Amino acid sequence: AKQALQVAIDGPASAGKSTVAKLVAKQFGYIYVDTGAMYRAVTYWAMHHQVSLTDEAAVAALMQTLTISFKPGEPDQLVFANDQEITMAIRQPDVTNNVSTIAALPKVREILTEQQRRIAAAGGIVMDGRDIGSTVLPHAEVKIFLVASAAERAKRRYAENIQKGIDTPLAQLQAEIELRDHKDSTRKVSPLTQATDAVLVDTTPMSIDQVVETIANIIKKQSSTI
Ligand code: CDP
Ligand code: CDP
Repeated sequence: AKQALQVAIDGPASAGKSTVAKLVAKQFGYIYVDTGAMYRAVTYWAMHHQVSLTDEAAVAALMQTLTISFKPGEPDQLVFANDQEITMAIRQPDVTNNVSTIAALPKVREILTEQQRRIAAAGGIVMDGRDIGSTVLPHAEVKIFLVASAAERAKRRYAENIQKGIDTPLAQLQAEIELRDHKDSTRKVSPLTQATDAVLVDTTPMSIDQVVETIANIIKKQSSTI
């Protein structure tokens, strides 16, 4: 019988989580859920409404006016804030460099965590983020912690930016990535950590296909034991 597992993929910025999560989801006929996009959507919404990103009560109140949703799209799924499409807007550097501030607010995490659990409840999902295996889905059947060296991750982000016509120096990208990782790993509420039962995959020397195959094999092995 086909099983509908929960697959949690966590790790630092630009480790390849969303790229491989999408491909793994496709292979198993699962739904891909990008929780980083949810934190980005809240950040965008707060900046757009001139709400201070450190004012927890104000951000939480503003979230009552925001419904985040995903719709199928090519090559990437589309992200909506209410009926406004924000797929590109939430990837802009101003949002990227402010999202860790919003993500450190306990009330914001509480609201988004509840939404994420509801989305994942039926299984058949691949969810990526920072705290999925540790906090959001502690009972997920498959937990992956995806890492790569900061230098390799900066190179990957650089190549991706060049394709989009953005030319931020490599050294600056690496510094931004390291700063965000530091903020994400040291915050008080559900910081970026490897869950004790997560499998560590170091992708530094690996191609995308190799990473996808590694994770697919872990899922198949896990399916056969339950
Ligand atoms: O794609 P990239 O690695 O740049 O980041 P992302 O996955 O889109 O996540 C953006 C930010 O959202 C992270 O740097 C975290 O601050 C926050 N985040 C989080 O706190 N918890 C999650 N489950 C997912 C993202
Ligand atoms: O979601 P996350 O921030 O962890 O990373 P991503 O946006 O999926 O991946 C960052 C970039 O690394 C993308 O352009 C991928 O194509 C690339 N990548 C790679 O070159 N080699 C891998 N093994 C994995 C990802």
